[in-house]
Amino acid sequence: MSDVITLSIASWDQPVAACDQALAVDALERGDVLLLPRLGFGLENDEQAFISPNVSGKAKNVSLDPVSGSLRGANINDADPTPLRNMMVRYARSSRSLLRNLLPDYGSGLAQARTSFRPTEIAGRAVSWRKDDSRLHVDSFPSSPTQGSRILRVFSNINPSGQSRYWRLGEAFEGVARHYLSSLRHPAWGANHVLQSLGITKRLRTPYDHYMLQLHDRMKADSAYQTRVAQIDHAFPPGSTWIVFTDVVSHSAISGQHALEQTYHLPVDSMRDQSKSPLRILEALLERRLDS
Ligand code: SIN
Ligand code: FE
Repeated sequence: MSDVITLSIASWDQPVAACDQALAVDALERGDVLLLPRLGFGLENDEQAFISPNVSGKAKNVSLDPVSGSLRGANINDADPTPLRNMMVRYARSSRSLLRNLLPDYGSGLAQARTSFRPTEIAGRAVSWRKDDSRLHVDSFPSSPTQGSRILRVFSNINPSGQSRYWRLGEAFEGVARHYLSSLRHPAWGANHVLQSLGITKRLRTPYDHYMLQLHDRMKADSAYQTRVAQIDHAFPPGSTWIVFTDVVSHSAISGQHALEQTYHLPVDSMRDQSKSPLRILEALLERRLDS
């Protein structure tokens, strides 16, 4: 089962001691959550007004695309979106600086993806089972194949009224994969090209993506698994930051409101030990290549 490993880093921009860098990369790659309880993300005065569930309207999250700069999911009528965008841009920049100091070996392998602001209360949210992140799952997204690259995410709880964000952590990835292995199917030949040409996927879905999506869906749909698998709850208090490879860590978010999250992608060959990646673990279990 995943553990939560704590480091006492308190700045987004300070150099990190070599022993803490080594501890961080080991913990993350073996599937633990790295918690920085002293690293809060402070808001500017004009940003505070956006800490409201109304900001995202019907959408669950507000997201910022790093390439186009477009802000999605914000529902702020005539209000000036600049402070909201600035908060998210600052978060993206701060998380990048943190990872440069904490995980320097990943270097230019780390590619910044979406930034998200999560202002809605998780508990009691009405969503379909597939989108229900309060069920244990590993991250895999239908329209965004990673083709084997890792999903590394930085979260900060910015709740202004003292409310922690609660997660549940489940069994190690290999256990999840073994549990569902016999029910997983290889993709039909050519289906990935059809999905891409129809614009359903942003790039080609590889066999790896196909298997990861099946794992994500099987886990969430399986009520018996959700209740029976070994699991443990963790609180992430306001003023803390945590970092996770969410493609390997079996996780669910069960309550909490107001978090920022920054996604990065990392090619497996930038890892210290790529045998710990879901790509290599699945390949070893299935005894076949899954990259094309
Ligand atoms: C998730 O990745 O499943 C949701 C995490 C969160 O919003 O805290
Ligand atoms: Fe998730």
